[in-house]
Amino acid sequence: ARTPQTTATTGTPEADAPIRWERDGTGVVTLVLDDPGRSANTLHQGFVAALTAVAARAEAERETLRGIVVTSAKKTFLAGGDLTELIRIGPADAAVAFDTSMAVKRALRTIETLGVPVVAAINGSALGGGYELALACHHRIVLDAPGTRIGLPEVTLGLLPGGGGVTRAVRLLGITDALLKVLLQGTQYTPRGALENGLVHEVVTSPGELTERARAFIDAHPESHQPWDAPGYRIPGGTPSSPRFAAELPAFPANLKKQTGGAPYPAPRNILAAAVEGSQVDFATAQTIEARHFTELVTGQTAKNMIQALFFDLQSVNSGASRPTGPEPRPVRRVAVLGAGTMGAGIAYACARAGIDVVLKDVTADAARAGKAYSERLLDKALARGRTTGEQRDALLARITPTADAADLAGCDAVIEAVFEDTALKHAVFQEIVKVVAPDALLCSNTSTLPITLLAEGVERPADFIGLHFFSPVDRMPLVEIVRGGRTGEGALARAFDLVRQINKTPIVVNDSRGFFTSRVIGRFLNEGVAMIGEGVPAASVEQAAAQAGYPAKVLSLMDDLTLTLGRRIREETRRAVEAAGGTWTGHPADAVVDRMADEFHRPGRAGGAGFYDYAEDGTRTGLWPGLAEHFGRPDHQVPFADIQERMLFAEALDAVRCLEEGVLTSVADANIGSIMGIGFPAWTGGVLQYINGYEGGLPGFAARARELAARYGDRFTPPALLVTKAERGERFGAEQQRTG
Ligand code: NAI
Repeated sequence: ARTPQTTATTGTPEADAPIRWERDGTGVVTLVLDDPGRSANTLHQGFVAALTAVAARAEAERETLRGIVVTSAKKTFLAGGDLTELIRIGPADAAVAFDTSMAVKRALRTIETLGVPVVAAINGSALGGGYELALACHHRIVLDAPGTRIGLPEVTLGLLPGGGGVTRAVRLLGITDALLKVLLQGTQYTPRGALENGLVHEVVTSPGELTERARAFIDAHPESHQPWDAPGYRIPGGTPSSPRFAAELPAFPANLKKQTGGAPYPAPRNILAAAVEGSQVDFATAQTIEARHFTELVTGQTAKNMIQALFFDLQSVNSGASRPTGPEPRPVRRVAVLGAGTMGAGIAYACARAGIDVVLKDVTADAARAGKAYSERLLDKALARGRTTGEQRDALLARITPTADAADLAGCDAVIEAVFEDTALKHAVFQEIVKVVAPDALLCSNTSTLPITLLAEGVERPADFIGLHFFSPVDRMPLVEIVRGGRTGEGALARAFDLVRQINKTPIVVNDSRGFFTSRVIGRFLNEGVAMIGEGVPAASVEQAAAQAGYPAKVLSLMDDLTLTLGRRIREETRRAVEAAGGTWTGHPADAVVDRMADEFHRPGRAGGAGFYDYAEDGTRTGLWPGLAEHFGRPDHQVPFADIQERMLFAEALDAVRCLEEGVLTSVADANIGSIMGIGFPAWTGGVLQYINGYEGGLPGFAARARELAARYGDRFTPPALLVTKAERGERFGAEQQRTG
């Protein structure tokens, strides 16, 4: 429906266009980004057409224009590319992708070269395409509001800014700063941070001031040009042909490798190429180069994987697709955290940070106070870096009450237990407090290995009992795995979900199983790495393969950190449980290696001073243990490098399929997000199940490769029935967003 034009303007040809043209009596036009019927402005095809139209109109009316202000009527300024459109672009659509990128560039170029002042009045987040639009303005003013972010985060979704962002960032900041501060990490700046780093010109504190300052700029600069269009302009810091820059250039490929670990992330490489190549040519040629590099990325599989997982799956997980819909949200006011060790201290901080009062209980008051001191240290660091204020620090600390007295837990409406990993102890702890806390308090355990259903047997009100599995370090790890026990009620599940969201973490919901989803699947990765040592594969190859696959931690070093004895203890518990249930225990080829390492060589891992690696006195790794080659090496046995790499990835992906088959997982999004954000499955894959979707040849291709690995290395690679059926039916795992027509 068309809405009547109410502003005192010359009107717009299309009142329902996503960009409004509002001209006042003084010849200043405000372009209001306000896409009807959408919650945010994005650069979808229709929006690009509107941008092209306003650029043409501005050019036509140039003689009578005094200036242009670009602002938005939405909460965000402009969110950037339309990901629902971008994820559908297949290799066959390269020409369309290239043309769209060029169309955006042309419109922005027209506006910035009109000769009249153009001001970005950035009222909310300007990320990606939003900041690219702002970059095409002569002056950028941003309203300082909580949550407002400025930057070019395309790289985090496997893309590059294809709307002139690379070309302009390089010309604004110089190649080095553009790459390191903006393009390669995709840093999202607060308004103040954007000002300090030269991304914007002014920060204001009220919407009125935003308009005022925009007007003031126009009045003071009747003619405006970009610095890069001025005669004699040189890129700050020089170009690759200048001696100063040439000295820095060789560091870039090394930096890239450091960022990606040699894993297949094409975006940083294309960004580097677009920046360097584009810096040596004129503006127009640079834009074409940028569009080519953009097209290559957007038509490729990695961008699809990353958009699927890190945008769509993340959105689905956080928005509560796995939350029961009935129960009304009831924010937690006062939480009891039991155990003030590594995890309890971190959980207390996360809760207090979200404004929840925390009673932090340990066996002694000193231990509880030590747990609180952890928050103090984190806050002091944040204070020193300007990330918090003294007032905020004190308020947060005032919310944490350390104690050894159970009576202090009175009135707590949620409990999170993080005492030692011991069933009897956990039962005793819940028994002690359950009568003290609110009668309907939510009861959570942060156990990492004990089945929730079993733990619930020793807890009153098992319907209110649930697993809340945090990851270490809690302040930095965004994921929480919610584990639903056999007797957990829907209400408890909903409340646990809401609590995780309340503390700004990402919840995945899984059904109880040994190791839940995350520990179970990462166990397959660790076992596979260790099993290869047993086969005689050189340890250095195994570690290098893990790094090149994109795992943030190499497999043997991670095993050392977790200790081999922990793995063995979990294995023994699992074996006993399987046998008690009348099942037959089939071990893993890794078991024999772990046993020899621990018993014969007394190398139980880092905490024990020796493991697959050697360690110095202070615990730093000094190198792989040479004994590995001596005791396990088999120079005659060759395992192709691609197999070493894929055995780790496949071991995890196949087990995730089994988790889905067994009902441990109930959603594909949970699997993808849980694997990337919880256990370091490489992000370029889009997560454990998206990895299968995106594998060459899709599900059938993946299943065929799994059979090949099974024939070479063992039954554990045999594709599960669910995979086979889906492959036969031409299905995939999860949503259909990225299907092309
Ligand atoms: P920790 O050893 O650092 O801390 C345990 C704390 O519980 C100690 O401060 C201890 O004094 C306290 N405690 C013992 N008995 C208590 C009682 N009766 N009342 C109150 N406090 C008592 O252990 P951590 O690493 O924090 O682990 C705690 C739980 O979290 C375990 O169940 C563990 O499996 C789980 N977990 C650990 C992760 C990790 O990375 N460390 C990750 C996820 C879960």
